[in-house]
Amino acid sequence: MAKRNWDDVITLREGNTPLYSLPGCAKAAGVESLFAKHQGMNPTGSFKDTGMTMAATFARQNGFHWVACASTGNTSASMAAYAARGGLRSLVLIPEGKISWGKLSQALDYGALTCQLRTDFDGCVRVLGEVVRRMPVYLLNSVNPYRIEGQKTAALELMEQMDWEPPEHLIVPGGNLGNCSAIGKALLEAQQLGLITKLPKISVVQAEGANPFVRSVREFGGKKLVAMQAETMATAIQIGNPASWKKALRILEATGGTVEQVSEVELASAKAAIGADGVGCEPASAVTLAGLKKMVKAGFVKTNETVVLVLTGHVLKDPEFTLKFHRGELFAGTAAEYNAALKAQQRAPVILDATADAVLKALEQAEKSATN
Ligand code: F0G
Repeated sequence: MAKRNWDDVITLREGNTPLYSLPGCAKAAGVESLFAKHQGMNPTGSFKDTGMTMAATFARQNGFHWVACASTGNTSASMAAYAARGGLRSLVLIPEGKISWGKLSQALDYGALTCQLRTDFDGCVRVLGEVVRRMPVYLLNSVNPYRIEGQKTAALELMEQMDWEPPEHLIVPGGNLGNCSAIGKALLEAQQLGLITKLPKISVVQAEGANPFVRSVREFGGKKLVAMQAETMATAIQIGNPASWKKALRILEATGGTVEQVSEVELASAKAAIGADGVGCEPASAVTLAGLKKMVKAGFVKTNETVVLVLTGHVLKDPEFTLKFHRGELFAGTAAEYNAALKAQQRAPVILDATADAVLKALEQAEKSATN
């Protein structure tokens, strides 16, 4: 193997993300012991960074000048940052109007050539495939094996944080299905090395409107995957033709995990619940909690089992979603607009005259409604 110079490593000090307990969410889901491995606490605010440090470093060591990805926003933010840090140019292909402003603004700040294509994520992947065939541009989508190797970090950190005593369940959101594959690979390898003696059941949750993997497992026994037009407000996982579904399927089968799907209302409510525990995450990450609730109801997760949710993105990634939710605008014009349970979670800002009296009145009202 060629000798590598560690000074060549492109890093932003990713990893070492916290493991939080989620007491309020645990109660709501009906389990005793619930934790979140928060990958949104990485430098660019998502789980992509541990993979990107490796893959961007590989690109630089091998003399590439340009790196590129198609993205729903987080990969592009991460890639743009690591490329900038390493003196590489980056090309971002994102679906026009279908990613959050926070993520788009990151790519711009880190200096990427950002192309908003008039298509969806799956369309961006198709275009990028042709670009990399015609130019010596290094592909940094999650099919890149170095990204998968780097994303194993979360699982190994988690085991260390849990004293190498795996939880019964690990729940991951599913988009292109690279993350679930990476986490599963790490744990299978840890078992082979004798670092752990049992495996957590690894389960994948998707949004109902972007559920090709759930359908593949439920309708076709995992024998095929039918690509679909994906539609969800959790734009990070709005993916209809996931590249790594076969790898993800192997992980589910090897660990005894399952698939689940959740509605837009369920994921929005779960996001607010994670926020109310003082942790917060972006919409795509919250499908894990919403999925857990269904797995408990179905008896797949037992009340006394330990569960870890992988939260993939930071709460500030998609503030528009959060604001609309709390202002009651997210489901305006739909049946969910007057959903009482959702209303109870909403904390719209109040606009007041600039007097202490007005503020104190608001405080009294809040105090009353909290004790009711
Ligand atoms: N959660 C977040 C916040 C994501 O950004 C993604 C994927 C996923 C979950 C799903 O992970 O694809 O490994 O199954 N985002 C990619 C992107 C597709 O381009 O940023 P996956």
